[in-house]
Amino acid sequence: MQAPTAQIKVDGKELTLPVMIGSEGEKAIDARNLRKDSGYIFYDQGYGNTGSCESAITYLDGDNGILRHRGYPIEQLATYSDYVETAYLIIYGELPNAKQRQQFSRRLRDNAAIGTQMQRIFEGFPESAPPMGMLTSIVSSLAAYYPELATNNFEKDLQNFDLAAAMAISKIRSIVAMIYRYRHGLPFIHPRDLPFADNFLHMMFSDPYVAYQPIPEVTRALNLLLLLHADHEQNCSTSTVRMVASSGANLFTSIAAGVCALSGPLHGGANVAVMQMLQSIHDEGDDGTRFIQAAKGGSKSNRLMGFGHAVYRNFDPRARIIGKACDEVLTRLGKSDPLLDIAKNLEQAALKDDYFVSRKLYPNVDFYSGIIMRALGIPTDMFTVMFAIGRAPGWIANWKEVASNTKGRIYRPRQVYVGTPKRDYTSMDQRA
Ligand SMILES: CC(C)(COP(=O)(O)OP(=O)(O)OC[C@H]1O[C@@H](n2cnc3c(N)ncnc32)[C@H](O)[C@@H]1OP(=O)(O)O)[C@@H](O)C(=O)NCCC(=O)NCCS
Repeated sequence: MQAPTAQIKVDGKELTLPVMIGSEGEKAIDARNLRKDSGYIFYDQGYGNTGSCESAITYLDGDNGILRHRGYPIEQLATYSDYVETAYLIIYGELPNAKQRQQFSRRLRDNAAIGTQMQRIFEGFPESAPPMGMLTSIVSSLAAYYPELATNNFEKDLQNFDLAAAMAISKIRSIVAMIYRYRHGLPFIHPRDLPFADNFLHMMFSDPYVAYQPIPEVTRALNLLLLLHADHEQNCSTSTVRMVASSGANLFTSIAAGVCALSGPLHGGANVAVMQMLQSIHDEGDDGTRFIQAAKGGSKSNRLMGFGHAVYRNFDPRARIIGKACDEVLTRLGKSDPLLDIAKNLEQAALKDDYFVSRKLYPNVDFYSGIIMRALGIPTDMFTVMFAIGRAPGWIANWKEVASNTKGRIYRPRQVYVGTPKRDYTSMDQRA
């Protein structure tokens, strides 16, 4: 059978472009030679129609609400797996056997501590420093504290990959807990030999004189939350990690760039905006109608937060899982949260509203994730840094794909220049 191709005609010239078919049947026109052969480039603001890479990590079908990591449906991972196992799967491509799981967990445990020199970075920040501002700086400092793992030579860095990967995941978790302690004027709590999620809760909530007592429901909910954020294909922060990595940058530096990308309200900051919105509805005693009406005005600043997605034109499968988990967690903890009731009412109202229906705007993962974090005692201003702990495996796996690709090129998009055409330099006395 003849390989499929695509034909385009520009300036009267016919071009035949090869077609690529992914392992789940997604189709792409291979435009790598387009500019060379025609002088044209594709204009695709925001890259929504551009495949920037081939990747074997995560499959996402936004039209049908499907998300799979290394082939495994997110629903199955959420039911049967935990964060550490899913992180291993995402990074290494297979579910770990018992020995691999134990080694991985041990590496995470052994690399949790933040050295005394690195702890001093915290002292330079005001207590009011925003958590994401602190996290971006401290994560990028890992390259300075562990230069032997961050040489900017892919061959060497890949030899040390297992250690660097475990260090990144484990230390981001410790740094996040320390940010919380620092901002609340509390002493740092050192990590212990505890499972990943419990160790985080211990570093957050233990006191020097009373150790945090793990609560199985809380541990399970935190695992679920982190797992659901572990990877999400070529999202803004992951693409940023790949772009930085494509220049030859080491794992820590590339991840730090991902943390920066995550900080924006349309990406990692959306869960904070959702809680602020739900809280205002609560405080105003409104039923959400005002927010729904305002969101329909078309202004970016009035969007219904936690709704819509750059890729999903269907329910975000993570939102279904997390929405259900919210009810379960609150019931198991014997808590209730009026914001959960408001969220459910808002969801129902939006799903019946023609504006949202016609644009295929459904709740995304951020719509409910904040309610779970609130139930776990995590303050709203920490939500985005929590997302960073969850997303670390995805960033790491994507960095590894870039670093391992010996035929990879530096990411360097083109542009359509719309500025002033050529003009001559004028001396100061001739300027208006
Ligand atoms: C996620 C997001 C940035 C995707 O943006 P995008 O790809 O530009 O959005 P789309 O192309 O799907 O938008 C299609 C239409 O829906 C509107 N729209 C998208 N999200 C909306 C929202 N949350 N509230 C109201 N209107 C929205 C857009 O204004 C656009 O309207 P138009 O066709 O009249 O111009 C956007 O949906 C958003 O801002 N959501 C709220 C923030 C959020 O929850 N982010 C977390 C993502 S996990």
